[in-house]
Amino acid sequence: MATIHTPPTGYPAEITGYVDPWIANPGSTIDVKISSTEPELKYHVARLVSGPQGTDTSGMKPEIISAIPPGTCSGHYQVAQSGSYALVPERDYQVRNAGIEFSVYFQSHLLAAKHTQTLISTLNVSIKTGYAAVLTDEGVEFWVGTGATVDVISTAFKPELKRWTELRFSIRGTSFEYDIIPKPIFTDIPQPPARGSSTLSGTADIARPCVLTLSAMFAESHTKASQIATNFFNGRLDSPTMKSAGPSNQVLAQWDFSLQISTDKVIDVSGNGTGAEGRLINGPTRAVTGQDWDGMESDWTKAKYGYGAIHFHEDDLDDANWSTDFSISLPPNLRSGIYAVEIEAASGKVKDTIPFYVRATMETSNALGARVAYIISTFTYLAYANEHVFDRAHLKDTVNTVWKAIPDKHAEKTARRNDLGLSCYDIHNDKSGVMYSTAKRPILNMRPDYISWNFHRPRGLSADLLMLEFLEKSQIPYDVVFDHDLHTSGAAAISRYGTIITGSHPEYHTNESLGAYANYIRAGGNVMYLGGNGFYWSCATTAENFHRIEIRRGGEGIRSFTCPGGDRIFSSNGQSGLLWRSRGLPANCLFGVGCCAEGPGPGVGYKRTDAGKDTSFAWMFAGISEDEVLGEYGFGGGASGDEMDKCDYKIGSPSNTVVVATSIGHPDRFGMFPEDISFPFQNVLGTQTKEVRSDVTYYETSGGGAVFSVGSINWLCSLGWNHFENNIARLTGNVLQEFVRRHQLLD
Ligand SMILES: [Fe+2]
Repeated sequence: MATIHTPPTGYPAEITGYVDPWIANPGSTIDVKISSTEPELKYHVARLVSGPQGTDTSGMKPEIISAIPPGTCSGHYQVAQSGSYALVPERDYQVRNAGIEFSVYFQSHLLAAKHTQTLISTLNVSIKTGYAAVLTDEGVEFWVGTGATVDVISTAFKPELKRWTELRFSIRGTSFEYDIIPKPIFTDIPQPPARGSSTLSGTADIARPCVLTLSAMFAESHTKASQIATNFFNGRLDSPTMKSAGPSNQVLAQWDFSLQISTDKVIDVSGNGTGAEGRLINGPTRAVTGQDWDGMESDWTKAKYGYGAIHFHEDDLDDANWSTDFSISLPPNLRSGIYAVEIEAASGKVKDTIPFYVRATMETSNALGARVAYIISTFTYLAYANEHVFDRAHLKDTVNTVWKAIPDKHAEKTARRNDLGLSCYDIHNDKSGVMYSTAKRPILNMRPDYISWNFHRPRGLSADLLMLEFLEKSQIPYDVVFDHDLHTSGAAAISRYGTIITGSHPEYHTNESLGAYANYIRAGGNVMYLGGNGFYWSCATTAENFHRIEIRRGGEGIRSFTCPGGDRIFSSNGQSGLLWRSRGLPANCLFGVGCCAEGPGPGVGYKRTDAGKDTSFAWMFAGISEDEVLGEYGFGGGASGDEMDKCDYKIGSPSNTVVVATSIGHPDRFGMFPEDISFPFQNVLGTQTKEVRSDVTYYETSGGGAVFSVGSINWLCSLGWNHFENNIARLTGNVLQEFVRRHQLLD
């Protein structure tokens, strides 16, 4: 496999890996893909049932699954080959002796890439045939094979950053001609065009059947072939067209990137022969503005023109495509849960815990008697997967300087394993935002002992395991359900449960997964939203690429980049990206609260409100004295911290929402979210405004159920504090028991 390499000299001992598929059904088989510097490995499968006690992981005792036999395997070091490109398999374009004319529009987003950047290539360096158009530090170059040599034609034309430029070249016999024509950006004056011609050292050998690539080539240079695609372009290509240079000037191939935008196909509209359909590798960004976009229509589903471009990046990754080290058959009666392959070097030198997820079936659910479902935020895990914000190289200009990176072992591994792709919080090397994230790779911040490098507390999966441990302790039978299942099955995935519980950070939802919540609530289900920043950004996926999530960030919301105005419609389904609030459905409408503020550093506790002291809420606060601070302690400081939500009737919190507790006041490290601010930012920090807060809310729904929300990512970090002996655990338990009791009454 091209993914297996020798680790660099001095590389530390390391094991990492992933499971494919990462969400599986009982009775199915999953493939485990491992990279290891150590030669001998041993593994077993466990169910994760506990969270970390801060940085102390000694109490995390996974339940070893004896029905899945442990095993051994040999280790090899694997890397992922990132870089996106279009690949058109070998095809005879019927060039014959006439020669070709090739044209393409390109828009460079990274001028100094420190390597050659390929626009288009049919080059086969081994036999010195074909041709390529590339960008080097010296400018546009053409490489043309004659069978005897590969000629290099330099132009000294250096493109300007982000300016569309039309590139045309023709090859006939020994004649080579080119035209490079920069386009104006609306009404400005571009640099002058470049034109030239030259005589090749021999007749061009370009008529053979060839593999054609856009944005990459299978050559390290014009003299050295490469087994893997390399020399990636960073920028946009539009309308690549190959014509015969003969008198007929027949179109031999013409790729229209505005077609089948939701797929990985590139479509040839030439009508010539079998069609030169190609496929996209590593998920370049589709549904982006092209060379003829004029700002008059910003929705590609409605536009008649302007969306014929694809944005390629040298650091795109869609599928690490590692070789499988072993497969695991999941027993048909395996209960739903968060599982992991625990794998360790035989020497004991290094280990890793590689999570995967198992769905419930009607049989496993009935066997448990599950009345409660814990929804695991698999969309949010993907959005944050391998985020590199900590390394500052990408985001030094946009990240608050208060956030000091304190790398832990996971962050160090993420920095070392730069090959494993980016998150939707990162920007590419060319400074454009990352729109897609993938499950087909190791996700290094999705580990049970992960401690966030900037919040210094469990976050994501590691925080959500604290609630799982609480459920285990409560002895209430539960299933786990995944965002991806809500997307696929809608409310049917959860309709059999009386209560559903969110994780700490259920931020990202598709139209379908959010609709599942809405329908569940409408039908009378009870919801415990035990996190913050929930139901905030919209996301999308496709059945074809279900391992991939798509996010388009607009000019509002807490964000690490902003998509240009024409690039805010999902390629996956043609829906609007942006915040759910911007799409008209703030989280407040369904959950009583919506995200409003965030900050690093320790959180603060809550105080019960007068409304919360009403005797009608005695059941909720049973065992908690009236004026005690709720959640004063936790792995993140107080229970209100990180990202926080508040009740806001004016943007949609139901009028019967009761704020039963509210946070006691945040320092100025915490600030309001931009979408709540209409005029120049003033009085937006913690001590300056009451708008920086978490609210604990409760409302009874039209369907006969109720929604309890806590408005803080930190909540679970306080729930787990002191081994669950605290008033957040008591309050959470009271609500859970009451919701379960109410549902039982309906039986
Ligand atoms: Fe978030």
